[in-house]
Amino acid sequence: TEPLRLGIAGLGTVGGGLVRLLDAHGDRLALRTGRRIEIAAVCARDKTKDRGLGHALDGVRWHDDAVALARDAQVDVLVELIGGNGVAKDAVEAALSLGKPVVTANKALLAHDGLALARAAERAGVALNFEAAVAGGIPVVKALREGFAGNRINALFGILNGTSNYILTSMAATGASFESALAEAQALGYAEADPSFDVDGVDAAHKLSLLASLAFAAPVDFSAVYVEGIRRITALDISFAHELGFRIKILGIARATDHGLEVRVHPAMVPEGTALAHVDGVYNGVVIEGDFVDQMVFEGRGAGAGPTASAVMADIVDIALGLKLPLYGVPVDRLGQIAMASIDRR
Ligand code: NDP
Ligand code: HSE
Repeated sequence: TEPLRLGIAGLGTVGGGLVRLLDAHGDRLALRTGRRIEIAAVCARDKTKDRGLGHALDGVRWHDDAVALARDAQVDVLVELIGGNGVAKDAVEAALSLGKPVVTANKALLAHDGLALARAAERAGVALNFEAAVAGGIPVVKALREGFAGNRINALFGILNGTSNYILTSMAATGASFESALAEAQALGYAEADPSFDVDGVDAAHKLSLLASLAFAAPVDFSAVYVEGIRRITALDISFAHELGFRIKILGIARATDHGLEVRVHPAMVPEGTALAHVDGVYNGVVIEGDFVDQMVFEGRGAGAGPTASAVMADIVDIALGLKLPLYGVPVDRLGQIAMASIDRR
């Protein structure tokens, strides 16, 4: 069987993690999928940077720009790990227009342009997979798209940003300042290139709009999400909440109401003893309520090289196995048709 040849755009925290994962598990993955997964070409800004990847990229072709990488005839799958809505978008569009499947961790891109890109992927008849874009290593996209398919979903909520949860947890546990906790999260590779996305709730809102679109099979516009971050939370707020038996967490909440879908991100008092109160540090937690399966709780590392690379590879394996599911779980022309009226509003 022919190998599956990857073009990896971006070799930072996530791209580097993916190269290491493939280096460690290449043989096991070949046995699992029946074909070798190889890196055909890569690109990043600085070709001379020591990325600590040993010989893993020996003999791999470098491109100066991501669109050229996407167009490389030796690349079967584009793995977009640059981030943002600039060159990343151009590269994803270039790959899809050539009928190449795409794997991306870029929630900012999909929250703004997901619908158009989903259409382009459908037209091309290829997968556009994004497990790593939401909740790091937790397979919550696969859970919603596949595991919950038989359910009507009434609500989903959770901790969707590792950096802000890391900051809140450090402030509570060690009395760290907001600034020093954020600097630690950045050093650990958890934060976005612009960390205001993390602390102002924007990244969580990107993720929530994607999860809500999947959960309710309706396109949820990112601009419809109410967003409030954690900048105004003080150490005093956290200790008062503690005394009263609560933890302060920033939550993303999507719920069906009589007035339609409610989607919001904001700090909340979470009672001690509930699942999300004890999701600490870089961990994310997602609670999903399906009418037949009831409530399910997912918890795991929400950011960082290893967990995110794990999710990216799961998407690549799906492509190697020939699996192809619509981005939002249903084809774009059926989005919104699963009547909101059928949503249980209890
Ligand atoms: P990094 O900043 O660590 O890496 C970005 C990479 O993209 C770098 O290798 C950089 O090159 C390269 N790059 C930047 N601009 C260009 C350009 N114009 N052309 C070519 N290459 C470019 O980011 P992350 O790895 O943290 O994040 C990547 C994506 O994954 C983002 O969409 C992010 O939101 C998402 N994500 C990140 C997670 C995390 O824990 N970090 C978790 C889940 C998703 P160079 O190295 O030379 O500077
Ligand atoms: N900056 C993001 C976070 C990365 O901290 O959760 C994972 O999406």
